[in-house]
Amino acid sequence: MKEFKSKLNSEKYTISGIVSAKCPSNIALIKYWGKRDVQIPMNPSLSFTLNESNTQTELKFKPNDSGEFKLKVFLDNELKPDFAPKIITFFNRIEEFMPFLNRFEFEINTHNTFPHSSGIASSASGMGALALCLTEMENQLGGNLSETERLKKASFLARLGSGSACRSVYQSITVWGETSAVESSSDLYAVPYPYEIHENFRNFQDTILLIEEGEKEVSSTVGHKLMEGHPYAERRFESAAENLKKLIPVLKEGNLEEFGIIVEHEALSLHAMMMTSNPYYILMKPNTLYVIEEIWRFRKETGLPLYFTLDAGANAHLLFPEKNKVEIGDFIDKSLKSYAKQGKMIKDFSI
Ligand code: DP6
Repeated sequence: MKEFKSKLNSEKYTISGIVSAKCPSNIALIKYWGKRDVQIPMNPSLSFTLNESNTQTELKFKPNDSGEFKLKVFLDNELKPDFAPKIITFFNRIEEFMPFLNRFEFEINTHNTFPHSSGIASSASGMGALALCLTEMENQLGGNLSETERLKKASFLARLGSGSACRSVYQSITVWGETSAVESSSDLYAVPYPYEIHENFRNFQDTILLIEEGEKEVSSTVGHKLMEGHPYAERRFESAAENLKKLIPVLKEGNLEEFGIIVEHEALSLHAMMMTSNPYYILMKPNTLYVIEEIWRFRKETGLPLYFTLDAGANAHLLFPEKNKVEIGDFIDKSLKSYAKQGKMIKDFSI
């Protein structure tokens, strides 16, 4: 972790400035579910970084003599005092690696391309964008990080804000969590997926059906905690690591069928953990199940490669290759869209 300590110290600064960054959301194919202190995942995870769903953040900083950082958070130029505690916790966690923070006061203004009420977690893109802003600020103060070092540090910092955020710093496919299957993988930051990716998985489509809007019923913080002492936790952590290993030849060979089996198994395993935790939860809604059944029926009837994944909520992510965009897009519009609240969906993809 020494490599992430800033060359800068907590001396007095006279510089003011503005930095900005954009960071996308991501969808995990191999799920991170369960962690230990501080933000260390219990299993490796792998995700597609999305293209359209992102957070844009502007960070204004000016010197402050109090010896403690101060911050105000705005969403679309509107002051949001209830957003501040999570960011204060984040800043306290990363101060060790950014000792100059307590010499400044900050105004953070953020904008999400997806509606706040959409049920899409903004923590991955939000913490990713903030971490990118902070590393840019470090360089403006003379931190001297090369672009490679800056992204690695941004991923490391983003993890301390929200685990899945560390995967959003890089495009395409990324891996977070140490696994012998992926060289240079680490529990401390994500790495760009280093192996061959078949054409089938380029510009892979993710259409998000917004089945449930608003705040998630169970926050991921609570969800991760429920894995502590969970009777099936150890087996689940092993199974995620095995699934990740199995995915590597699949991504190389373009085997869509096998991809679907692994990805849907992961999604249902995550939900199975929540159904068997103490207390237990069913995070799917009836419409989530209808959508899954429709997808399975469609696949059986047409042989077309449409798959789903789920996060810790009711929304369905519909995954399919770019080459099948037209016919699968038609099916989604005709048969799946009506299961979403007011037919709302977000058409996204991973490059
Ligand atoms: C189900 O990254 O939101 O989306 O580290 O507590 O902020 P914290 O959790 P978070 O958990 C994401 C869980 C997931 C699966 C995944 O993205 O891998």
